[in-house]
Amino acid sequence: MKTNITKSAYGLTAAGDSVEKYTLSNTNGMKIDVITYGGIITSWTAPDKDGNYKNIVLGYDSLSQYLSGSPYFGAIIGRYGNRIANGKFQLDGQEYTLATNNDPNHLHGGEVGFDKVIWEASVGSPGDAAVLILTYTSPDGEEGYPGKLTSTVTYRLTNDDALEIDYMATTDQKTIVNLTQHSYFNLSGDFSQSILDQKVRILADEYLPVDETLIPTGEKRKVEGTPFDFKVPKAIGQDIEVENEQLKRGNGYDHCWVLNDHGSFRKVASAYHEETGRFLEVITNEPGIQFYTGNFLDGTLPAYGGGTYGFRSGFCLETQHFPDSPNQKEFPSVTLEPGQPYRSKTTYRFSVK
Ligand code: GLA
Repeated sequence: MKTNITKSAYGLTAAGDSVEKYTLSNTNGMKIDVITYGGIITSWTAPDKDGNYKNIVLGYDSLSQYLSGSPYFGAIIGRYGNRIANGKFQLDGQEYTLATNNDPNHLHGGEVGFDKVIWEASVGSPGDAAVLILTYTSPDGEEGYPGKLTSTVTYRLTNDDALEIDYMATTDQKTIVNLTQHSYFNLSGDFSQSILDQKVRILADEYLPVDETLIPTGEKRKVEGTPFDFKVPKAIGQDIEVENEQLKRGNGYDHCWVLNDHGSFRKVASAYHEETGRFLEVITNEPGIQFYTGNFLDGTLPAYGGGTYGFRSGFCLETQHFPDSPNQKEFPSVTLEPGQPYRSKTTYRFSVK
């Protein structure tokens, strides 16, 4: 038996462009639906301890719902994942101005980021993985960013229930880039349940405290003895209501952790739901991970299969370079030069325990 990919029509954008859906399946029965709009993962099934496959990512039932507003459910984020202070940065003394779509800051690529464009899709040769290759060329100056940037994101579903995501980008002019994936997980597969009982582990000794607008202050703070310590698996809800200024600013967890052992492709995080046995591991070469606990979900957005998405009904583990890196010299660089391709890799692997 081989992995498989099928293609179907998903809908039309307001401009009349057609959006396709690709379904990647492996030989165990894991299925991932990806649409060409935003490279969005609209559904991703994972087995529980009895072998039942269920969708474990938040999303919508139709394209029109994505078009009328989504908190980045399942999308590819670019050109810059996370925030840039006041939508401004400099390269070689020249200042660039970006949309301040998250007042007063720039967030996730601006008004029309990579989550809202149509990606060109091609299918890799069938074999031991189902491979979908998405490409988008962003013109020079789009959303205020310099340089024509060509990005390729490859989704590779393997037979060990892993989704390997490869990010590649090239530019014709010095620019900045920081791509990520914004899936919201709820390992219970029941979106009427909150994620507070799911146990998360983050292999990081430090995190980045933020100001009132969620921009890192520049300090790297030890997690030890704070609610931000996830070095050993801990229920998301265990400390989330503790009196803590940083938790107040994020209305929960909405911070970037400084992952240990930057410089290698290593396991950095995991999540576990005891009742169903679903276990998720995150492996990446990135220096940071934004752990966001769905604090902006407020019961107004329609949920997959009925009802609405309640407060903290999904969590994100977004691998990335640190927020506001273009303005913070001590942070690893996000500058991209012509002739030096950007490469980043993250694997999300499921199993049961
Ligand atoms: C990121 C941000 C959050 C929020 C979500 C989308 O994770 O850090 O503050 O904007 O995206 O709602």
